[in-house]
Amino acid sequence: MFESLQAAPADAILGLIAEFRDDPRRKKIDLGVGVYRNAAGATPVLDVVKKAEHRLLGTQTSKTYIGTAGDPAFNAAMQALAFGDAAVDDRLVTIQTPGGSASLRVAAGLLLRARKDTVVWVSDPTWNNHVPLLGGAGLTLKTYPYYDAETRTIGCDAMLDTLRAADKGDVVLLHACCHNPSGIDPTAEQWRAIGEVIVERELVPFIDMAYQGFGTDLNVDAFAARHLIGLVPELVLSTSCSKNFGLYRDRVGAMSILAKDSKTRDIVASQASSFVRTLYSLPPDHGAAVVSIILNDAELRAAWIVELDAMRDRLGGMRNLLQDALKVTAPGHDFSHLLRAKGMFCFLGISPQQVARIKQEFGVYMVGSSRINVAGITPDNVEYLAKSIAAVL
Ligand code: LMR
Repeated sequence: MFESLQAAPADAILGLIAEFRDDPRRKKIDLGVGVYRNAAGATPVLDVVKKAEHRLLGTQTSKTYIGTAGDPAFNAAMQALAFGDAAVDDRLVTIQTPGGSASLRVAAGLLLRARKDTVVWVSDPTWNNHVPLLGGAGLTLKTYPYYDAETRTIGCDAMLDTLRAADKGDVVLLHACCHNPSGIDPTAEQWRAIGEVIVERELVPFIDMAYQGFGTDLNVDAFAARHLIGLVPELVLSTSCSKNFGLYRDRVGAMSILAKDSKTRDIVASQASSFVRTLYSLPPDHGAAVVSIILNDAELRAAWIVELDAMRDRLGGMRNLLQDALKVTAPGHDFSHLLRAKGMFCFLGISPQQVARIKQEFGVYMVGSSRINVAGITPDNVEYLAKSIAAVL
């Protein structure tokens, strides 16, 4: 039976992990997958996570099932983290999911259960896995223009014009902060304009917030979620703890849906439960239990924010360092957009051929679109990186 299958192509992002690992060159640089790294190139477990895990080991008395929606204490904490004071309790349901990806997948399932021909508008470009994940679930996808490669800014007018032509009830997938792959986020003013079109056209915002805390801070990064929830009757939010808690492999995320009233909210909650049961039955507990301990303890929460701030500051520092180094190695070229980007990613702005060359000749790995993860830059490798970039320009 299985001989009828064809080998699947390697994932554009995850495929780079193995390629980089197998490259024997000592000076190679990994700017591929979106994982935080410190100045030594390591992705250590956060200190606060170690502390919470220690506490969890000492206090956990059972590993029995919790339920399809996960732990209510985790869900309440995640809801408050995302929406702050804007949380509208009796219309909002939040469930624990195995990472942000499962959160997207559950949301897709519910959108399809609600309307089997649901259309979701995604930004051009968007995270490499958005289209396979949401399209593969059965949603009809359309794209709206987002990043203007010429000006290296958001083409906001073109984006708004496209969304003005969307049909009532269409869903708009928005990156809350640290747009993946461009790193270029709407300003507060642009978010307000986006909100106006969403209201005017009666669209449903579907916010993907995978990098809260990596852009400006936990509150500023949640601006879109908090602003839009006050404007619309219905909204979907997908959140991830992979990056801001460094819990990548533990798979921790949450999905929230704002329904038009509390009765509909209860129906959505029951549908979410039944959908999860058919998909993965129940979410894993360990990582979410750790996050719940941290968010529900004032001291640990404060310690987490200090570690999160340090990660974000390092990313900003590396952007500056690379831009300064490029001024020396590639003086005729403008890389100022590196400083306008937020979070882990931005486009270098080189062609796929140049991406292939820099990998082949210098062992510098990035996604084919020239998306770089600035966490792969260190004070030790930045000079080599800037020289390698200049050599392929
Ligand atoms: C990325 O975009 O590199 C990360 O979100 C990791 C992934 O799963 O693709």
